Order: sequence, then structure tokens, then C-alpha cells
Amino acid sequence: AGSLVATANVNAASAIDGILSSDELKVCFEAGYIPFEMKTKDGRFIGFDIDIGKHMARTMDVKFVPVNTAWDGIIPALQTEKCDIIMGGMTITAQRNLKVMFANPYITIGQTVVIKPELEGKITSYKDLNDPKYTITSQLGTTGAEAAKKYLSKAKLDLFETSADGVLQVANGKADAFVYDLPFNALYSSQHQDTVVHLDESFTYEPLGWAIRQDDPNFLNFLNNYLTQIKNDGTYDRIYSKWFES
Ligand code: ARG
Repeated sequence: AGSLVATANVNAASAIDGILSSDELKVCFEAGYIPFEMKTKDGRFIGFDIDIGKHMARTMDVKFVPVNTAWDGIIPALQTEKCDIIMGGMTITAQRNLKVMFANPYITIGQTVVIKPELEGKITSYKDLNDPKYTITSQLGTTGAEAAKKYLSKAKLDLFETSADGVLQVANGKADAFVYDLPFNALYSSQHQDTVVHLDESFTYEPLGWAIRQDDPNFLNFLNNYLTQIKNDGTYDRIYSKWFES
């Protein structure tokens, strides 16, 4: 251990320096999280997070560069500088906050369950699924997986690399319920009314925030003030209605 003076990080580089010198804002997300980030058939990325990311890049007068990343490797991707920021509907959790800095929440959601139609009426709350006879699915490394372990510890849990694979087990009747973020579940079930049923009672509190590398107060300050601005000048509402009210 050195002296206080020797260890003080007086001139830490901000991600802002790299963004401005490269003229690129590199954004990590994991496509497949409707309606926040999706990949179109012709390979473009669209969604709520993507539109905000593009607007943010425009505000900084740099190019928006999408970095589609497996969810369970997304924090390492940020840490190894594959991107400057995670804009992927990431829940601000205490555990993650020990590794990354989060800007203020841009939206708050909660976990819900999607069940197979045969269970409609029998399962009226997520709590009814806490039984060894049920198989639950979720996505690896998500707060959905954590919520299933915590609140449905008696059920069998199968985790999948993508949310699409997890929810498909329920749609196929191979699993009983899928635990995931409410916006995804609401949209998926409205698009697959014949194969799944949504119980829209949310049972966790989950503020979602943009994540950046540690020790970067300059970028954090930029992000929080940028968020306040777009929340109050109509930009956020315009993008929100485009993806959540159609
Ligand atoms: N909010 C959840 C979490 O933080 C799920 C986010 C999934 N996001 C995604 N882009 N696939 O764990």
C-alpha cells in the first residue's frame, strides 16, 4: 500500500475521451429483449434502447456503433472496452454496482411470469409455482434467474442463453413458466396468445440503468444530465410511445 498521494487517481481517463477521439459511441446490448433491442431480418438493430443510444450519439456528435453481446458476458465486454456503455435494459443491482457505475434509472420494471395455457386458473400468482412439480425457465445471468432462485426455490429451474429459448420452452409445453422482465413478457404474450398466458403481477422492484466502467465521474455526470434533459424536453416521451404504446 502506497501513501495516499501516490495512490490517488488524479487524472483518470474518461470514456468520453475515447468516444470523442474515435468519433464513435460503442453501445453494448443483447438483441432479443423486446421492445428494447431487436435484430431485424436484414440485420439492423432497432428498439427503445437503440433509439435512445442513437439520439445520445447524435447529441455527442459521434457515430452510434451497436455491439450486440451475449447477456452473461456483457459486463466483461464493457470492462475490456468492447463498448463504452451498456444500454440493455440492465437492472441496477447492488452486486453489479460493485463492478460498474450506473447512471440514474431510465425506467422501472419488475419480474412477472408467463405460463402455459393449461395452467391458467390453476396458477393465479407466481407464488403458486413454488412447487417441485413445476419447471421454470429464465435467461442466464438475469435478474429473472435470480428472482426464480429466490422466490421459486422449490421449483426446478432451467436457464437459457437467450430469452427467446427460455420462453419457447413454455410455448412448446416443455416447461411450465418463464420468469422475466414485465415489458418483454407483456409483449411476447400479446404476440403469442395461443401458446402462453401472462400473469402481469410484478413481484420485484427493478430500476433499469445505463452501465459504464468504474472511476468515470465525467461520463456519469454527462449521462445523468443528458437523461434529465431528454426526460423533460419531449425526446424520451416520443421514443417511449413509439415502442410501448403501439
Ligand atoms: N433486466 C434484466 C436484467 O438486468 C434483464 C435484461 C435483459 N436485457 C437484454 N438486453 N437481454 O438482468
